[in-house]
Amino acid sequence: MTLEIIILAAGQGTRMRSSLPKVLHPLAGKPMLAHVLDTAKRLEPAAIHVVYGHGGEQVKNTINDPEIHWVEQAQQLGTGHAVEQAMPAVKEGSTVLILYGDVPLIKAETLRGLINQISSGVGLLTVSLDNPAGYGRILRDGTGKVLAIVEQKDATTEQLKIREGNTGILACDAGQLREWLKRLDNGNAQGEYYLTDVIAMAVNDGVSVLAEVVEDEEEVAGVNDRQQLAHLERKYQLRCAAELMRQGATMLDPARFDQRGTASIGQDVVIDVGVVFEGEVIVGDRVRIGANSILRNVQIGNDVTIEPMSLIEQAKIGNQCSIGPFARIRPGTQLADKARVGNFVEIKNSVIGDASKINHLSYIGDTSMGSEVNIGAGTITCNYDGANKHRTVIGDRAFIGSDTQLVAPVTVGNDATIGAGSTITRDAPDGELTLSRSGQKTLTGWKRPVKT
Ligand code: UD1
Ligand code: CA
Repeated sequence: MTLEIIILAAGQGTRMRSSLPKVLHPLAGKPMLAHVLDTAKRLEPAAIHVVYGHGGEQVKNTINDPEIHWVEQAQQLGTGHAVEQAMPAVKEGSTVLILYGDVPLIKAETLRGLINQISSGVGLLTVSLDNPAGYGRILRDGTGKVLAIVEQKDATTEQLKIREGNTGILACDAGQLREWLKRLDNGNAQGEYYLTDVIAMAVNDGVSVLAEVVEDEEEVAGVNDRQQLAHLERKYQLRCAAELMRQGATMLDPARFDQRGTASIGQDVVIDVGVVFEGEVIVGDRVRIGANSILRNVQIGNDVTIEPMSLIEQAKIGNQCSIGPFARIRPGTQLADKARVGNFVEIKNSVIGDASKINHLSYIGDTSMGSEVNIGAGTITCNYDGANKHRTVIGDRAFIGSDTQLVAPVTVGNDATIGAGSTITRDAPDGELTLSRSGQKTLTGWKRPVKT
């Protein structure tokens, strides 16, 4: 069976009250439409058609995916009309699956289940709702056979009592769908060409309609306003948290965790509240991540402790490291095993060797640091001369006294010691003490000024 997927994304989304097209509003940091596309691709379809309307150029440019066949629906005349716009490009003999750019949490497994059960008929995803307001209702006969869908605005008082709603997601043969769409009319309460009318046509033509009732209402929920978006965001985040717990994390509060990207973690990881993962995050075993820390595109070894309020970005952290609290690790940084980075330390584009310590109030940028180095509090690598960036090289077991400026390009040798308060502008040799400060003196008998 060849599958082609049509995603409807032409609606204006007036209730978002936004200049951004609705389907581009991010869920977990990624446009809603991109979530639907990812799910669609997992079904390995022969083609994906996206029907766009409002903000079309912006949608195309943002998604920027050469695999998509974009179809314009200039005027939004209804869901049936929208699907019809895509049909000329759909190959005869394929199965068509209809999805929605504003229904972001639909799962590939659910869709697979729907597609696999239809051999010759129409597969329709429905949902049982406590409050079906706004949904099209599924009409069944006494034996439970699906007969038709009636839209809320066209329904009788009796029909409005039906709690089985139409998700809008359906799958059927392309040729049959083409014929039914041709026969649609807009003689209804909204003056629209309803996709839902194809169900009654199928029944009339003796084609069986298999309704699959989805368990989880939120999986098929659409987003019309920002409150609904926030609701689905939280739902998505809880799914991510559940997955991390399955992998072996203790989460002090799964409701206070956010993942905007992909994550994999080892066993016995502890994640405190307010932690955010962004991009691709890979965490080893027995890692503790303190409250309100942000990890963005990072790889973290085993037995690492990240104290609260740390921001770690595009970095690779070895085993048994300790970071934070209040540490900022910027792109291009690598910490070897047992490195320690303490409070108010910023590190950028630097390699920190085994067991080296930068414990307090430092800026280390464009630096290659050996192992077992001790960086005193307040040490700054002056990597920028106003025009260019330069590197600082620090040898193994060097000891840099507090409040030192290392003016790059500069090299501090192995086992070198730098006296506190020095401004180092030339290379410091191996094994020696180098310092740059005037000798201490005492002016005996000096008096403080007094107020006159
Ligand atoms: C639709 C279904 C309804 C179902 C509900 C589920 C129809 C007629 N009704 O109603 O049975 O219970 O979804 O949420 O299908 N769209 C276009 N072009 C158009 C019209 C709509 O692309 O011309 C897109 C919208 O962007 C949206 C989706 O289709 O993503 C649904 O359209 P909407 O107008 O919201 O349909 P509902 O009234 O919610
Ligand atoms: Ca809707």
